[in-house]
Amino acid sequence: MKLIRRNVLAIVSAVCVAFLSPQLAAKTFKMALGDAAGGTQWELGETFAETLKEKTDGKVTVDLFPNGQLGTEQDTVNNAAIGLLDFSVLAINNVTPFSPTVGLLTMPYVIQSAAEAKLLTQGDIGKELVDNTLRDAGVRIVGWAYSGFRVLTNSKRPVRTPEDLKGMVIRVPRNEIMIASYQALGVNPTPMAWSETFTGLQQGVVDGQDNPYITIAAMKFNEVQKYVTNIRYIFSLEPLIVSEAVFQEQSPEIQKAILEAGQAATEHSYEFLLATEDRIKKDLAAKGMEITEPANNEKEWIDSITTVVWPKFYESIGGKEKLDNALNLLGR
Ligand code: MLT
Repeated sequence: MKLIRRNVLAIVSAVCVAFLSPQLAAKTFKMALGDAAGGTQWELGETFAETLKEKTDGKVTVDLFPNGQLGTEQDTVNNAAIGLLDFSVLAINNVTPFSPTVGLLTMPYVIQSAAEAKLLTQGDIGKELVDNTLRDAGVRIVGWAYSGFRVLTNSKRPVRTPEDLKGMVIRVPRNEIMIASYQALGVNPTPMAWSETFTGLQQGVVDGQDNPYITIAAMKFNEVQKYVTNIRYIFSLEPLIVSEAVFQEQSPEIQKAILEAGQAATEHSYEFLLATEDRIKKDLAAKGMEITEPANNEKEWIDSITTVVWPKFYESIGGKEKLDNALNLLGR
């Protein structure tokens, strides 16, 4: 009888620990990644997962699901917003439709280096965008991948000027600023989800696209694209988002660990980019990609895009002063 009572007590206390002290219970989160393993999204996600595990003494783990297995990047924002998904790493351009003010980070030719991308995301402007995303989209940005400039690839011919793009079908994310940028170059772009892009390029539905070197390599785009134009119109920032509904269910200890792990993963991402991008670019060239510099220091690209696109999106990013503040911070 005593033994039974002791066993019952043990079971009851185990159940209490599991239900009343979530910080002590083991937990596995799911994290969606739009890209394949090996890219900047993966580096951010993996470092985050390792750090979170370490900070919670192995109680909180994260399983990574690359290659859009958990849906298109834009779907993952919706799913996280309603608490169906815990975490996602995705390109900021795929967050903009849910929280237009983050369009500031995809305004073309604003960020001109990795250091500027860091400055913009880590200071007051970045904090305001994180708050706006939480308010508008129900997801909290807890880390950033710094992925490098989105260079243009295509399967047809070397491109040095916007004129060279005539007649090509270029895939763009479903992002108004990026669509308008190509239209300003005289191209009619085709919006397509990221998860469909490799197949679209492979089957010739589209001729080209833009993404950073590390992403191109992780996605093996070199197998279906030959020409690269080294444009620098958008520096790719890829936030790690957590569902706010899920975040609020966690104990203060786990919330703190999530925020700290996000910061550690962000630091790692920056170092990874600086240490890796050049090597990847050389690897892609060695594998047969032909890399071309835009003519005249990219002047025609910059002029055509900025004069049309910037004014068109002042309102959606919260007013012209938002862009002015960013340029000011960047010393321009
Ligand atoms: C896109 O082009 O949709 C994204 O930038 C791709 C990515 O997440 O790497």
